[in-house]
Amino acid sequence: MVILDGVSRIYKHGQNIVRALDRVSLRIEDGEFLSIAGPSGSGKTTMLNLIGCLDDLDEGELYIDAHPVGAMSSKEKTAFRRNNLGFIFQSYNLIPVLSAFENVSFALELLRIDHTAIEEQTYSILAEVGLSGLEGRRPRELSAGQQQRVAIARALVKEPKLVLADEPTANLDSKTGEEIIALMKAMNERRKTTFIFSTHDAMVMEHAHRLVMLHDGSVVSDEHRRR
Ligand SMILES: Nc1ncnc2c1ncn2[C@@H]1O[C@H](COP(=O)(O)OP(=O)(O)O)[C@@H](O)[C@H]1O
Ligand SMILES: [Mg+2]
Repeated sequence: MVILDGVSRIYKHGQNIVRALDRVSLRIEDGEFLSIAGPSGSGKTTMLNLIGCLDDLDEGELYIDAHPVGAMSSKEKTAFRRNNLGFIFQSYNLIPVLSAFENVSFALELLRIDHTAIEEQTYSILAEVGLSGLEGRRPRELSAGQQQRVAIARALVKEPKLVLADEPTANLDSKTGEEIIALMKAMNERRKTTFIFSTHDAMVMEHAHRLVMLHDGSVVSDEHRRR
């Protein structure tokens, strides 16, 4: 469903040219649970931002479900993101003044579905991520792991086919990080949602069904594991 064909992203720092991604080719099938790993600066965020239609590529072709992302206008990309993609961030990115419920339902309100359906879907996904009874709490009244659960609920409530997560466990202790990855994996198995997540944590890589290693913007290994 996701095809990168010779994709590059090039930054200029004065005289220096940095190939944040350097002619990367990769094919990611529906339902994969794939980790992009590599040291800091290897291009993980750049790759996720390109697949997430948040950035423009400089070389090559990128297709998501046969849609050529390189040919989309920024308006088309915004609509494509809203309708097809979910995002999970390292620092959760919840809205502080909104409750857990409101942080999740907000994503649905942009789609203009009716109020009862929004409520049902929001309660149901918050229960699925283990937050029943905590719907009324604001982010600061939740632990770090609970906040990331809200973010996972927000990413999944629209039932996107593809969820992108940039170092989703980087701000969590290792036990909580492991719980969060286990939750993402459960959602991947239950809903067949494709997950692409970056990490430089070996424990997190262990959970991936496929591990793509980046170094200096290039894929240095691509390993399929047990499913
Ligand atoms: N907006 C930007 N402007 C200039 N250089 C950037 C920008 N974003 C990333 N880079 C450079 O691209 C390379 C890859 O960065 P990044 O994708 O953030 O790596 P990672 O997420 O693996 O740490 C780094 O050398 C980084 O300095
Ligand atoms: Mg990064």
